[in-house]
Amino acid sequence: MDAETVARFELPGYLRSVPDEIEARDLPVTGTLPPELDGRYIRNGPNALPGTTSRHFQVGPGMLHGVRLRDGRAEWYRNRWVRTGSFEGRSLVRPDGTFDLTAPSANTHVIHHADRILALVEIGLPYEVAPDLSTVGPCDFGGALSTAMTAHPKQDPATGDLHFFGYGMRPPLLTYHRLDASGRLVHSREVAVPGPTLMHDFAVTEHHVVWLDLPMTFQRALLDRAIPYGWDEAYGARLGIMRHDVPDAAVQWFDIDPCFVFHVGNAHERDGRIVLDAVRYSPAEFTAMWDVLSRTVMPALDAPPVGRAHLHRWTLDPRRGTVTEHPLDDRAVEFPTLNDGRSGRPARHLYAVTGTEPLSRDECAIVKYDTATGAAVSHGLGPDTMIGEAVFVPRDDPGGEDDGWLMAIATARDGAASRLLVLDAADVRPVAAVDLPRGVPAGFHGSWIASAPEGG
Ligand SMILES: [Fe+2]
Repeated sequence: MDAETVARFELPGYLRSVPDEIEARDLPVTGTLPPELDGRYIRNGPNALPGTTSRHFQVGPGMLHGVRLRDGRAEWYRNRWVRTGSFEGRSLVRPDGTFDLTAPSANTHVIHHADRILALVEIGLPYEVAPDLSTVGPCDFGGALSTAMTAHPKQDPATGDLHFFGYGMRPPLLTYHRLDASGRLVHSREVAVPGPTLMHDFAVTEHHVVWLDLPMTFQRALLDRAIPYGWDEAYGARLGIMRHDVPDAAVQWFDIDPCFVFHVGNAHERDGRIVLDAVRYSPAEFTAMWDVLSRTVMPALDAPPVGRAHLHRWTLDPRRGTVTEHPLDDRAVEFPTLNDGRSGRPARHLYAVTGTEPLSRDECAIVKYDTATGAAVSHGLGPDTMIGEAVFVPRDDPGGEDDGWLMAIATARDGAASRLLVLDAADVRPVAAVDLPRGVPAGFHGSWIASAPEGG
C-alpha cells in the first residue's frame, strides 16, 4: 500500500482511540439500575498511545474501561492503559532472540480468578490489574507459567478450576494448563499439533477439552503484517477432544470442513457425544476479511470487507470417530456469550451481537438464542449505534438460566458518546443505561466482576 493511501485513511469515529486517562463520578443513569448489581464492569480493547495516530483497530496497547455500580448508582467511570513491557517501550524480542512474554499488549480480555483481575492477550503473560484498573504487573503464577496464555480461558462452574492454553510460533506449539480455584497452576502438558496455528479460543466440557486446529498458520512471509498468520489450505482443519481429568490422555482428532472460528459459544457432553457451538467463518468470508485485518494499517476501502460469521454446531462421536455439523442460524453474529454457570454444560441460551463485522453498516443488535427451540429474539440499537459484546450477569438467587442481565457498551457511530446498557436477559429489553463521560471505542471482551475488593 502506498503512503498516500495510508495518509488518506481515517478510522471511523467508533474505532478511534481516546487520547488520555480520565475519571468521572456519579454518572447519569436512565431507567433503574438493579440495586443488587454491586461490582465492576470492565472491558478491554486496543487503544493507541498518546500522541500516536490510530491506524488499526485490532492492535495497540490494551486499555481498560471500567464502570463501578453499587446501590443502584453508577459511582465511577475510569479508563486506564495496561502498562505492559511494550507500553513502556520494550521490544517483543530480546537481544538474544528470545520472545519476551511480558512485553505484548494485554488488549483482548479481562477476567477475575482467585482474587486476581487479569488483563489477557493470547501471545503473552496475563497482566494483573488492581480494582482501580491500575497495572500491578505480569503474572506467571509464581514462576509456574512459561508459555503465553489464551485470552479465552474457561472456568469450570463445579470445581472453580480455570482451564486455559498457550500457543506459540515455535515449540511448544500448544500447551494445556489448569489453575485450581485458589489460583495455583496445578497442571501443564504439551499437546502435539502438526504446525503453529493461530488458536484464539477453545472449549471445555465436564470431562474434555475441545481443540480447534484450523488452517491459519504462522508464516515467515507474513512477518511484515500486524499478525503474521495466514490461511493455509494444505494444513487442513480438525477438532480434537482430550480428557482433562486423565493426565496425558490422548487427543482424538476429527477432520472437518475448512473454516475459521474466533469464538466458541459453549460445548457440552450428551449421550457420550461432544456438542460444540461456535461462530464459524467460511474460508471465503474469512480470508477476505483477514486480508484487511492482518495489515499493519487499515487500507482505504471502497466497501466494507466481508466477514460474516454464523452460529454453527459440530457434534463429535468419539466411539464412532465421526463428526456432523450444521448451521444453527443465518444471522451474521460475533462475540457469543452465555451464563458462565453453564459453561461446559448444556445451556439453553446463548447471546451474541450482530452488525459488528469490520466497518459494517448493518444495524447492530443483541441476539438471544434458544438452542432448545431454535428461536431467537433481538434488541436492535438503531442505525447510529455500535454495540460491543454482551456480558451475562446472573441475579444473586437466580430462578433460571436466563435470570439476570446483559451488559454491553453502546457507542455512537461517530464516536461522540457511549452508554453502558443493562438489559433484562429474559426478554433482551433495556432496564437502565449509564451515560459515560466520553465515547468509548469499540473493543474486544469484558467481564462483570461482582463485589470486588475495594479500590476506590
Ligand atoms: Fe476473542
